[in-house]
Amino acid sequence: MISPVKGTHDIYGLEEEAMKEVEEAFEGIASLFGYRRIIVPTLESTELFDRGTGESSDVVRKEMYTFEDKGGRSLTLRPELTAGVARAVLTNKLYTGDLPLKYYYDGSAFRYERPQAGRYREFHTFGLECIGEDTAYLDAETVILATMALGYLGFKDLRVKVNSLGDKESRLAYREALKNYFAPHLENMCEDCKERFKLNPLRILDCKVEADQELAKGAPRLSQFLSKDAERRFYDVLSILNAYEIDYEIDEGLVRGLDYYSGFVYEIHASSPKGAALGALLGGGHYDSLLETIGGPSLPGVGFGAGLERIAKAYLDSGLLHSNAGLDCYVVPLGEESYEDAFGLVSQIRSLGYKADLPPRAVKLTAAFKRAERAGARFVLILGENEREAGKVQIKDQRTKSQEEVLIEDLAEYLDERMMEDEDHA
Ligand code: HAM
Repeated sequence: MISPVKGTHDIYGLEEEAMKEVEEAFEGIASLFGYRRIIVPTLESTELFDRGTGESSDVVRKEMYTFEDKGGRSLTLRPELTAGVARAVLTNKLYTGDLPLKYYYDGSAFRYERPQAGRYREFHTFGLECIGEDTAYLDAETVILATMALGYLGFKDLRVKVNSLGDKESRLAYREALKNYFAPHLENMCEDCKERFKLNPLRILDCKVEADQELAKGAPRLSQFLSKDAERRFYDVLSILNAYEIDYEIDEGLVRGLDYYSGFVYEIHASSPKGAALGALLGGGHYDSLLETIGGPSLPGVGFGAGLERIAKAYLDSGLLHSNAGLDCYVVPLGEESYEDAFGLVSQIRSLGYKADLPPRAVKLTAAFKRAERAGARFVLILGENEREAGKVQIKDQRTKSQEEVLIEDLAEYLDERMMEDEDHA
């Protein structure tokens, strides 16, 4: 038997249902905020991520699926979607219209990470980008949108962590301070950190090696180096979040793992102990130079990416799944001679817009009821010789267990009424 590739998984059943509900909620809420869908390629030139996502990030340095195609081009399976959306904005000159551009997207991303709970090598994201204008309102709006979507899904205990990475001026000053702090210890630090020291000392703060983490605890704080403008901007965003009653905590250690961020950054975590172990449900922030770095005009942006597997897991663990994946009707033919009519009845119900199915051949009544149950059927319709002759069908309500006889010509009306009642009670 051929196994799936390490770190990939098949998504079906409850996980699929949960991911679909999560994605639909995010899509629906994003449309309320004026976002439109964009679909970008899974494969991009490696250069896009080297330059855009950032050569000092672990994602680019260590985790990319990069290969040469038959034409000798270096291609990469996208490790994230922001750089691709930024490239699409440039390729198609989308920025020549009204700004900001607001795009949401979904799709898989690939990172060669060590697989563990909530961490895959191929995972699925929902994300969005608001590109071309730079205001505290737009930064805050993405957090308002994300918390609204999670709230709509039923999540209650969320931890919204925010931080500011400051503007260029703040970061340059901070970089120098970090270099001065780490330089005397460099010899004892891990090989990755030696590299990080050269490329981007901020990344050292993200190191997972214990001794380096200890050292990082005593490092200067970015907040001490925020320029007046950067500080003002951060507090402007926070005051909008306050006005919208978004409960957040400032986490000065939140630096995000990708290089393009500047200014406001955030992550949302589930706060239940089980959920917290999954890592961030979503993360994002503001970026100033991404589009310029990949060869475009200077256009700022803000957005987030949400991990669908992680949110779906937390959603299932919290018992929030609504699931409407079950059938509306399961039609049971009594005996082979009723099969043809049962097949016709199923087609009729489907054309009314209700989900319906029947067994692949006539089976015993008890077996048919078991199938109906497994298929999550709301009603079971029994069709035997007597019913056929009378133009009727027996309908068993799987919730109340009551059964009644209905004329087939009245079936549409019957189902409409019953489904309406269900909706009213939902
Ligand atoms: P990110 O934080 O690297 O940001 O990823 C976004 C989300 O994807 C994470 O919060 C997490 O839920 C999920 N995720 C990341 N890696 C994995 C993995 N290996 N397995 C499962 N889920 C994972 C970005 O990718 C940015 N593009 C977000 C963004 C959009 N920033 C601005 N605009």
